[in-house]
Amino acid sequence: MAACLLLLVLMLASAEGVTFRFASYYGDHMVLQKKPAGAVVWGYGEAGASVTVSLSKDSKVIMKKMAQVEEYSETWKVVLAPMGHGGPYSVIAEQHSREEPKNLTLRDIYFGDVWLCSGQSNMEMTVSQIINASKELSEAPLYPYVRVFTASLIQSEVELQDLAKIDLEWSIPTAENLGHGNFSYFSAVCWLFGRHLYETLRYPIGLVESSWGGTCIEAWSSGRVLQECGLTGDAGRFLLPPLLSGPKVPSVLWNAMIHPLLNMSLTGVIWYQGEANAFLNTDLYNCTFPALIADWRSAFHAGSDGQTQPLFPFGFVQLSTFRRQARDDRFPRIRWHQTADCGHAPNKRMPNTFMAVAVDLCDEHSPYGSIHPRDKQNVAYRLHLGARAVAYGERGLVFQGPYPTKVVVDGARGLINVTYGQELLLLLMHDHIFEVCCSHRPQLSAPEPCQWVPAPMVSASSHTVTLSSPGCRDAVTRLRYAWAEWPCEYSQCPLYNKHLLPAPPFVIDAALKTGWANC
Ligand SMILES: *[C@@H]1O[C@H](CO)[C@@H](O)[C@H](O)[C@H]1NC(C)=O
Ligand SMILES: *[C@@H]1O[C@H](CO)[C@@H](O)[C@H](O)[C@H]1NC(C)=O
Ligand SMILES: *[C@@H]1O[C@H](CO)[C@@H](O)[C@H](O)[C@H]1NC(C)=O
Ligand SMILES: *[C@@H]1O[C@H](CO)[C@@H](O)[C@H](O)[C@H]1NC(C)=O
Ligand SMILES: *[C@@H]1O[C@H](CO)[C@@H](O)[C@H](O)[C@H]1NC(C)=O
Ligand SMILES: *[C@@H]1O[C@H](CO)[C@@H](O)[C@H](O)[C@H]1NC(C)=O
Repeated sequence: MAACLLLLVLMLASAEGVTFRFASYYGDHMVLQKKPAGAVVWGYGEAGASVTVSLSKDSKVIMKKMAQVEEYSETWKVVLAPMGHGGPYSVIAEQHSREEPKNLTLRDIYFGDVWLCSGQSNMEMTVSQIINASKELSEAPLYPYVRVFTASLIQSEVELQDLAKIDLEWSIPTAENLGHGNFSYFSAVCWLFGRHLYETLRYPIGLVESSWGGTCIEAWSSGRVLQECGLTGDAGRFLLPPLLSGPKVPSVLWNAMIHPLLNMSLTGVIWYQGEANAFLNTDLYNCTFPALIADWRSAFHAGSDGQTQPLFPFGFVQLSTFRRQARDDRFPRIRWHQTADCGHAPNKRMPNTFMAVAVDLCDEHSPYGSIHPRDKQNVAYRLHLGARAVAYGERGLVFQGPYPTKVVVDGARGLINVTYGQELLLLLMHDHIFEVCCSHRPQLSAPEPCQWVPAPMVSASSHTVTLSSPGCRDAVTRLRYAWAEWPCEYSQCPLYNKHLLPAPPFVIDAALKTGWANC
C-alpha cells in the first residue's frame, strides 16, 4: 500500500516535470575543478529540453556549453572546457522548453583544486574541538579562497544519484561554519589540509567533507569492494562491535554519501578511518582499503566522464592511539594493514597514495575521549607534505619518516643493527619499543607463533640504531617497532627525521627478505 502510494507520488511528480535546477552540490561560492580537468556541471530539467550552460566573468560570457535533458533520468550534464585557476565567475544555466526560458545562476565561483575528505569521527572532529581552537577559528577570514562544503549524514540501501541533504552549503570560511559544533562541521583535518595547500599553491581550494563517526570501511565500500574481499552474503552481515556507533550495513554510506559525488571533477581524496575496523574484519583491511581506493578511483573517473584522474592521489592518516593499556594488537595490525602491510605509502599495491603517521600524537585527556586526539595540526601538516610530494610532484620534498633499509644481526655479540634510509633524529633511547622474535628452528618458513622479546636500543649513529637482544640466544627471525596501541608519549617517539616526521611502525623479517619485495 505504502509502496503504491509512493509510486503514485513519483508518477505525479514526473508528469509535472522535474524542476529545472542544478544538482545539490552546485552552489554560490563553490570551487570547480581547474585544468587539466574540465569541471562537470549537471542538474535536472524537463525531459527533452535543451540546456545552455554559460560561464561568465565581469558580465562577459566566455564559454557556452549545450546539453539535452535525458528522457529517462531527467538530468543534463556538461563538461566545461578546462579553466586555469581564478575567479570570480558566474555559471548560468538556461533551459529552453515550450515554456518560458528559465535561468539559474551560480555566483562567486572559482576554479581551483577540489579535495574530498572522508572517514569517521577523527575526520569529523571540527575546528572548534582541536588544540588552539580559538586561534584557528579566528584565522578563518584569512582564507576566503578556501571554500568548504559538508554533506549530511545519510545512509541508503540503494545508490543515490544526488545528495539527499547537505549540512553546509558551499561557504566562505567563518569562525561559525568551521566550528559549528562537535563532530558536525567543519572537519579540522580537512580544513587545515586545505589551508596548507592554499598557502603552497596560492590558488582556490574546494573542500568537500563527507564523513561519519563510528563507521566501518564496509559501509563506505561498493559491492565490488566487498566482493573482492570475500565480504558478500553472510560474510557481509557481521557481529557488531560496540565502537561502531554509525551505520553498519555494508555499502550504505557509499550509496548515499559517495556515489552522488562521482560526477564532480576533483583532484583527490583524503581519508581518516580505521578505528572501527580495529574491531571488525581487522585482518581484511589489507584487502578492503586498497580495494576501496582502486574502486573509488575508477568510479570517480567514470562518473566525471574521464575528467577526474583514473589514479587520482589518495592520502590517509595512519591511526593514532586509543587505549594506553591495550591487551591486544588490534591497532598495530590496522596501522600495518592501512599500508597494505608495507609500512609506508605509496607502495606497489597503493600507488599514488600518501600517509600521515599519527602514532606519536596521543591525547589521553581529550574531552572527546582518547580516541579523538586534539592535535590535528600535525596530522594535517604531515598529510599536506604527502600531497605536495605525491599529488603535486614537488621534487625532493621529504614527506615520509625514516624507514629501515637493512637489518644486520650480529648473533655472536647479541646485537642488531637497523639501518634507516634517512638521517635520524634520535629523541630518546627506549628499552622496549623495538622487539624481536626468536626462533629455535633454523627454517624460517613456517610462521611459528612468536615470543616477542624487547630489544633495548643501546646506541645510534646518523642512520643506524643498534639494539641488544639478550633475551634471544637463538636466531632472530623478525623485528618490529612501535607495535603497540600506545607506543610513546606525545611527540616523544624515539625516532624522527630532521623534519620531525616520525618513523612509522613496522614488523619485518629480520633478514629483510619479505616486506620489501612486494612493496
Ligand atoms: C536569462 O534569461 C533571459 C530571458 O530569457 C535572457 O534574455 C538572458 O539572456 C538569459 N541569460 C542571462 C545570462 O541572463
Ligand atoms: C562539545 O564538547 C565539549 C566537551 O565535551 C563541551 O564542553 C561543549 O559544550 C560541546 N559543544 C557543543 C556545541 O555541544
Ligand atoms: C592480510 O593480513 C592477514 C593477516 O596478517 C594475512 O593473513 C593476509 O594474507 C593479508 N592479505 C593480504 C591481501 O595482504
Ligand atoms: C553520474 O555518474 C553516475 C556513475 O557513473 C552515472 O550513472 C550518472 O548517470 C551520472 N549522472 C549524470 C547526471 O550524468
Ligand atoms: C598551539 O599554539 C601554541 C602557541 O602558539 C604553539 O606553540 C603550539 O605549537 C600550538 N599547537 C599546535 C598543535 O599547533
Ligand atoms: C653496527 O653498527 C655499529 C655502529 O654503527 C658498528 O660499529 C658495528 O660495526 C655494526 N655492526 C655490524 C655487525 O654491522
